[in-house]
Amino acid sequence: MMYYHRLGKIPPKRHTQFRQPDGSLYKEELVSSEGFSGIYSNLYHINPPTRIKELKEPIRYGAKRVEDYALRQTHLNTSKVTTTGEDYLDARKVLLMNADCSISICSPRKRTMDYFYKNAEGDEVLYVHDGKGTLISPFGKLELRQGDYIVIPRTVIYKLEFEEGPLRLLIIESTSPVETVKRYRNQLGQLLEHAPYCERDIRPPHELITETHQGEFLLKIKKQGFLHQYIYDYSPLDLIGWDGFLWPYAFSIHDFEPITGRIHQPPPVHQTFQARNFVICSFVPRLFDYHPLAIPAPYNHSNIDSDEVLYYAEGNFMSRRGIERGSFTLHPGGLPHGPHPGTVEKSIGAKETHELAVMIDTFHPLYLTTDSLEFLDKNYPMSWTDNTSGSYNEVNTP
Ligand SMILES: [Fe+2]
Repeated sequence: MMYYHRLGKIPPKRHTQFRQPDGSLYKEELVSSEGFSGIYSNLYHINPPTRIKELKEPIRYGAKRVEDYALRQTHLNTSKVTTTGEDYLDARKVLLMNADCSISICSPRKRTMDYFYKNAEGDEVLYVHDGKGTLISPFGKLELRQGDYIVIPRTVIYKLEFEEGPLRLLIIESTSPVETVKRYRNQLGQLLEHAPYCERDIRPPHELITETHQGEFLLKIKKQGFLHQYIYDYSPLDLIGWDGFLWPYAFSIHDFEPITGRIHQPPPVHQTFQARNFVICSFVPRLFDYHPLAIPAPYNHSNIDSDEVLYYAEGNFMSRRGIERGSFTLHPGGLPHGPHPGTVEKSIGAKETHELAVMIDTFHPLYLTTDSLEFLDKNYPMSWTDNTSGSYNEVNTP
């Protein structure tokens, strides 16, 4: 993604003879993105990655969008959710989607997976709201901690192991590559001095796992509305080494350094990732604006060509109308949004915020899914109308 990394053993020259102890060749696999124009890695397998044992029937898999939802400010309150399904794939509930991305919650009851998974059509970003665990992939082990973004390029085979305790993931799936923000990179790809994070904040996989035993290994591949089930007679974790730029990585929201100013800074200062037609932003604890006449609360905003989704992760937003930990708001393009009544005056003089939120702004409209309707707060569109209960605690809202 952002720099060259390697683990395990690789030959000194790519595409040359690289032999196993028994004299046979390791099986080289080039994993390349955007044809041959994007980032890539070279993987060295013990077994051919192409050899399958059995091909089972595909299973239908995917969300259904709501076609007749009216234009309105929307609040999906998922705060009461403890589990959303049995295992990792059952539990992924898509709430919002369009042709570029989908936004899901995921709280599986089971903490381990007895299969491997591959998303063949989208990069995935897992935001670990609650939980702790390990992502296991052919690239090695990667620890998951609360507050991590785990970025998984498409076609990376993986499974997750979670520890006991609360578990809540926000999952963003992207049909295009998820990348660091272009304006923060120099012409050779290094993150610039004014970027809110740098390569040192990125955690690559470590501890390569090389499994050599035979057996039955199920891989579920997500593509075009199905989970395709492939059985292999060897573990996908059969790499002796790999190198390149394409690998899953972790970046903690707690390592995002906020950019602040004398007056209110616009949402792009919070941008963390980019993809085609949407961005991901992090709202983190920070000092407020320091102009003597500054208004920390945001101005009203008319977003004329984007839909803005906020996921409320941590902080004192409980007194905001109906918003709780785990709420989503969708402020669609075409309607102005802004602070609730009374909150602008109350924000004046505030010095800092301790809130954490993840924002996804899409440049094409989002659709609610049928699964989202059970979380719908029907009173939210009217929540700016009553001026009796406004309170200041919402300065995250761009
Ligand atoms: Fe906005």
